[in-house]
Amino acid sequence: MHNSKELFSMFKCVDCGCDFVEKLSETRVKCEKCGRIFKKEDGSWNFLPCGEVPLRVSIEEKWLAHEDRGVSFRVANWLIPLIKRNFGEKKVTILSVGCGTGIDVQMLNNEGYDAYGIDIGTRASRWQRNPWREKILFARGEVLPFIDGVFDVVYSWGVIEHVGQKGARSVGDEYLKQRENFLTEQVRVLKKGGIGIVTCPNRWFPFDPFHARPGRPALNFPWNRFLLSVGDVKRLLRSRDDIAQWQVVSLKGYFIFERSFDTALKKLFKPVIKIYTEQLTGNPFFHRSFLNPHIAVLFRKK
Ligand SMILES: C[S@@+](CC[C@H](N)C(=O)[O-])C[C@H]1O[C@@H](n2cnc3c(N)ncnc32)[C@H](O)[C@@H]1O
Ligand SMILES: [Zn+2]
Repeated sequence: MHNSKELFSMFKCVDCGCDFVEKLSETRVKCEKCGRIFKKEDGSWNFLPCGEVPLRVSIEEKWLAHEDRGVSFRVANWLIPLIKRNFGEKKVTILSVGCGTGIDVQMLNNEGYDAYGIDIGTRASRWQRNPWREKILFARGEVLPFIDGVFDVVYSWGVIEHVGQKGARSVGDEYLKQRENFLTEQVRVLKKGGIGIVTCPNRWFPFDPFHARPGRPALNFPWNRFLLSVGDVKRLLRSRDDIAQWQVVSLKGYFIFERSFDTALKKLFKPVIKIYTEQLTGNPFFHRSFLNPHIAVLFRKK
């Protein structure tokens, strides 16, 4: 496991922005500038901004196990191949923003990568069983608790649409600024040459099965600003001059297609939907269009 000295050297105060935190004990560190004390709770550091507490939500065990299976599949079949395409066999440093159950952090560390996760805590009940929980922090994507330029890969899967969210599938007045901060932070903590990845259901697609309420049709209207398109993600970072390259990434290997195909009728459609999503999503035209259910955007820092 990562030793604590190195871990502390990556931390940054989320309240005053100071890059130095002093170790007081194994479970407490103190910002050298503003004096804020950050503590470890149930084995995970709490770096939420002042006044915020972990957002613990009661989610059914069955659902969390399903999320674990989906994320494990994606790490093995989509993320690790993508990392290998970009960095070869190098065991790079990785951050999962909005890591949910944290199973991705566990898998990546088991594979020899130096992986970390942060989340506001909705699925933190799962972290306690994680042998790498010291590397999973309570924190907000809009103010990451890490110094600049420490990660080779930073990704957020299905998180950005929840930044600035207000209500079930709608946004508050500040959503654009909050989402810009969220992406700016992803870029800030990347090393030069590092890659950022953002995924989200596509705003242009007429359905959103990912956030549908039980018994309600999963309709999505593109004028609703809850979801994002490829263009929306690019626009949020357009004022930055430190992005070298943009790319849409194929979703081949991204979805496990498990829960969505639970009935006999739906099972009939599974091969068609699987081929549809996997074969077309590497095509930039398809990726940007209303035909694409889910976007994956990659950017490289200069
Ligand atoms: C739909 S889940 C996705 C979890 C995981 N990335 C996955 O692919 O299964 C969204 C996660 O983002 C977290 N989240 C929402 N807003 C966040 C924010 N502003 N900063 C950090 N995490 C956030 C939630 O707590 C939740 O765990
Ligand atoms: Zn401080």
